[in-house]
Amino acid sequence: MHPRYRAALLAWLAEMGADECIGDAGVDRFAESAVPAAVRQPLRVAAPAAAAPAAAPAADPVAEAQAAAAAAADLPALAAAQAAYEHCALKRGARSFVFADGLAGARVMVIGEAPGRDEDLEGRPFVGRAGQLLDRMFAAIGLARTAAEPAQALYITNVMPWRPPGNREPEAAEMAMMLPFLRRHVALAAPDVVVLMGNTPAQAVLGQRGITRLRGQWTEAWGRPVLPMLHPAYLLRQPAMKREAWADLLALRARLDGD
Ligand code: URA
Repeated sequence: MHPRYRAALLAWLAEMGADECIGDAGVDRFAESAVPAAVRQPLRVAAPAAAAPAAAPAADPVAEAQAAAAAAADLPALAAAQAAYEHCALKRGARSFVFADGLAGARVMVIGEAPGRDEDLEGRPFVGRAGQLLDRMFAAIGLARTAAEPAQALYITNVMPWRPPGNREPEAAEMAMMLPFLRRHVALAAPDVVVLMGNTPAQAVLGQRGITRLRGQWTEAWGRPVLPMLHPAYLLRQPAMKREAWADLLALRARLDGD
């Protein structure tokens, strides 16, 4: 194979989440399946050892996440505990642990889905095209992640701190493991208002999907007012929906102003 194709194939495999090389030689699965059934080696199963030592009880990943999150007294401790959590397989395929950006203590906390390619490279949430749109959207109502004052600032995180391969949606089991960390994250950041960007955070925080129906409807979760909104990546694909996003931003502004 031409070296350029080889490099492209390798890049594609990494993009799809391959994180380990399991042999020096490639395995031709097509050739394998072409072998007639009659000549395939029967599967040999080892006899069980006579007195196998009792296996240690399997760890409960969600219970471990709950304990680790609950033990974190502040945001740096929470970031360290989440970064050290080993049960989420996404960790092994990601370059970066992406915790948060902006001002901890801001009145508004934004929760997105998961890092994409740009966020994985940079180690900060919402820095790619969708993130640039997010910054412009909030700037239009006087909020910025770079602001120093809580009243004008944003604090931004994601449900998942590790990039899912190929930007697929996080799976239910992966989200369940991260939920205790997210809940503690919100409690420690203590925003006045939480904005949920798209279906994944709506599922995580509210247990509901259907963001085009949920968006713009104030609700409450984890003891705080919550506003579901359309994800900026969706708005890039469906620019006609920016009208709805603008209405939601104005509702957020009014809420912050106490109207
Ligand atoms: N989309 C998200 O939901 N989060 C990011 O950090 C980037 C893109």
